[in-house]
Amino acid sequence: MAYPIVRNRRLRNSAALRSLVRETNLEVNDFIAPIFVTEGEGIKEEITSMPGVYHWSLDTMEQELAEIVDLGIQAVLLFGVPDHKDPLGTSAYDDNGIVQRATRKIKSLYPEIVVIADTCLCQFTDHGHCGVVHTTECGAEIGNDDSLELLTKTAVSQAKAGADIIAPSNMMDGFVTAIRQGLDEAGFENTPIMSYSVKYSSAYYGPFREAAHSSPQFGDRKTYQMDPANAREALREAQSDVEEGADFLMVKPGLAYLDVVRMLRDRYSLPIVVYNVSAEYSMVKAAALQGWINEKEIVLETLTGMKRAGGDLIITYHAKDAARWLQGR
Ligand code: PBG
Ligand code: ZN
Repeated sequence: MAYPIVRNRRLRNSAALRSLVRETNLEVNDFIAPIFVTEGEGIKEEITSMPGVYHWSLDTMEQELAEIVDLGIQAVLLFGVPDHKDPLGTSAYDDNGIVQRATRKIKSLYPEIVVIADTCLCQFTDHGHCGVVHTTECGAEIGNDDSLELLTKTAVSQAKAGADIIAPSNMMDGFVTAIRQGLDEAGFENTPIMSYSVKYSSAYYGPFREAAHSSPQFGDRKTYQMDPANAREALREAQSDVEEGADFLMVKPGLAYLDVVRMLRDRYSLPIVVYNVSAEYSMVKAAALQGWINEKEIVLETLTGMKRAGGDLIITYHAKDAARWLQGR
């Protein structure tokens, strides 16, 4: 009788052994918590399709921040939901805009928290696109270079408000170069850029667009966001961002694109950020509310998978829950 010589089960025999040979460990340090900030007072409004995620006004936001800080989460990603929208998204680069005011407030309450500002125009434009719209006889198109000017103004205004990291999510060509130059000229040469390098045109952003009131009012984002079918193109997007001086590379969404995370991890030495996006969150929440899945185990397994695929940092709406679970709270 021939018995197995190799017995992989030997190293799985006890919890202690399993933890000794564990290759990937999640830490609270890995998480970036998104926050939606809105105008007004006393607002804490749950986003219907994202149970547990809220719109906060600047006053109530303190409650959310206190929790985040208490859990040891070190970084937040700010999304503004402004009152005023217009074709050029002017409230995005208003020094008194919602993101700018939220940034100043957070930095004054918790100077050590890393404030990451999402740099885009879609929440601030009335047409909901991430850039300037040009109407031509064959329809509308999204301008590139004139959008860059507005995005650069936005980034500079966010940095002036105290943002520690600028995270441009607009997918215009050359946005890292433009924003880098704008930041440098304004004296922010040490403010890092976390580039949404590889951002696919994805149905997984659906709940976010409800949350941020940022659905395009016509057409879609396919002329600037990437085709989900393409992986080689992801390398071109990442390569240009590296050459343009990006400090972090992001892949978004996460779950359906972990092959791309692995590719970037194997080729680049910059920190890789995975965005566990809104619908990835909503699907888990919906199934959990039905009692169909074990939410805690599903979430920790998913986040571990993102790290194992090569992600260094994870932007996730589960950040607070995951931090709690990791601490056995
Ligand atoms: C804005 C932006 C989007 C997300 C982050 N920044 C939406 C989009 O591009 O339509 C999506 C985040 C999520 O779904 O959680 N450009
Ligand atoms: Zn946008």
